[in-house]
Amino acid sequence: MLIDTHVHLNSHQFEENVDEVIKRALENDVKIMIVVGFDHKTNKRAIELADEYEFIYATVGFHPTDASKIEESDKEALFPLLKHPKVVGIGECGLDFYWDKEHIDKQIDLFKWHIELSLKQDLPLIIHMRDASEATYNVLKEYQGLKGIMHCYSGSAEMAPLFIDLGLHISLGGPVTFKNGRVPKEVAKIVPINRLLVETDAPYLSPHPFRGKQNEPARVKLVAEEIARIREIPYIEIANQTTKNALQLFGIKE
Ligand code: NI
Repeated sequence: MLIDTHVHLNSHQFEENVDEVIKRALENDVKIMIVVGFDHKTNKRAIELADEYEFIYATVGFHPTDASKIEESDKEALFPLLKHPKVVGIGECGLDFYWDKEHIDKQIDLFKWHIELSLKQDLPLIIHMRDASEATYNVLKEYQGLKGIMHCYSGSAEMAPLFIDLGLHISLGGPVTFKNGRVPKEVAKIVPINRLLVETDAPYLSPHPFRGKQNEPARVKLVAEEIARIREIPYIEIANQTTKNALQLFGIKE
């Protein structure tokens, strides 16, 4: 069994065919899906899906690329959602200096707000980090007792242990399967197995040989298979251990 720890079944790309996509995931050993929200609409939709499907759980938060638009009233609108029994995480949140370099201060403020909420609620953080490894680490290291996920980790192999030392998990997705995915392959080798997770980030980041096509949760299997190959251990070990890690982190009982 596998758990896709980061999938956007709540995004418009799946509006037409979400039932089929979920069915294919189940057929490919993906038995639990964590649907990650990133704005008002997708937070709500994640919860709707969690209400509809027993094996779907939701997380809620605001994406860093929207930081300049988020106001107090937006933040307040998140609180009632946290009471839902199937909301199991905060995010995705974080820092993205690839798409937005103009609102760095606002991104950092919003990220800190999510971190503090995660600590207060005792829910794991779903962290998005793009072209912002140093800044993300510098924000996180000021906190203690963190739990959460460096989602589709794109930092260096050298920095991965720093995030792990803060208490965080490293999640790998499609890029670990890319032929030129040298860095994620290196990361796949060194992350302690009890801190490793797998995800798709679907509809984005489709693994090889579907690179460039719309991704879906069924393909998390390709990610787990590639990690098993890299670590030279059986696939079933990666499947079992990443599942165990995810269940524990999200507090989900099988
Ligand atoms: Ni995402």
